[in-house]
Amino acid sequence: MVSVATVQASPAKEVASCSGRRTYHDDMAKVLYTESVIQARVSELGRQIAQDYQGKAPLILGVLKGSFMFFSDLVRAIEPCPRGLTLDFIRASSYGSGTESTGEVKLKTDLRREKVEGRHVLLVEDIVDTALTITTVSRFLLEECGAASVATATLLDKHERRKLSYRPEYTGFVCPNEFVVGYGLDFDEEYRTLPYIGVLKPECYSHLGIEAPEPDGSGESGDE
Ligand code: XMP
Ligand code: MG
Repeated sequence: MVSVATVQASPAKEVASCSGRRTYHDDMAKVLYTESVIQARVSELGRQIAQDYQGKAPLILGVLKGSFMFFSDLVRAIEPCPRGLTLDFIRASSYGSGTESTGEVKLKTDLRREKVEGRHVLLVEDIVDTALTITTVSRFLLEECGAASVATATLLDKHERRKLSYRPEYTGFVCPNEFVVGYGLDFDEEYRTLPYIGVLKPECYSHLGIEAPEPDGSGESGDE
């Protein structure tokens, strides 16, 4: 018999009332990539990756948190699956204040040289924007962990905002310079579960006194 302690419930967090909008779907100004368009592209990328990594026992590394949905669909699309393929994760956060990023990216991981040395690593990202994150993660893997190679599969490439030159080996879609949510991507930790990628209605953030959400400069937890 399992005994369950009774706990005093704390008051539920007040959900911002957005003038009649009751679900995340109601908060979308537009959908950029539908579920079916995303799934078709992910299948293509998976087949391409399977071909390119045959015989290479790749280590597929998801960059958390934003990539979690793309990662889980992509790894199942890597067919036929190369022998020796293994999975792991790394967590990356950008730091900043106001609306400007400091350019410092902090990594949280238990990956060590013994897990990575000599491996062909494929990084899986939700979006490459300034490319500060992916460049920091790649350097860590090559210089500190001795990876044999590092390549990147990103669902979205927002290349207009690059601060460092970086060209991902696998790109789902070249993304317009808009703040996007869904399919793993968040605004203030919300909207990650949407199966498509869309743009928020301005009234979802205008109460914060900002013209548009900024992926940079939103603090430690805001840029994962
Ligand atoms: P950088 O600039 O380092 O950024 O290439 C990569 C990370 O920034 C986040 N990011 C976004 N998140 N909507 C989001 O929800 C966006 O439009 C967006 N642009 C960048 C994301 O976490 C990505 O991994
Ligand atoms: Mg990310």
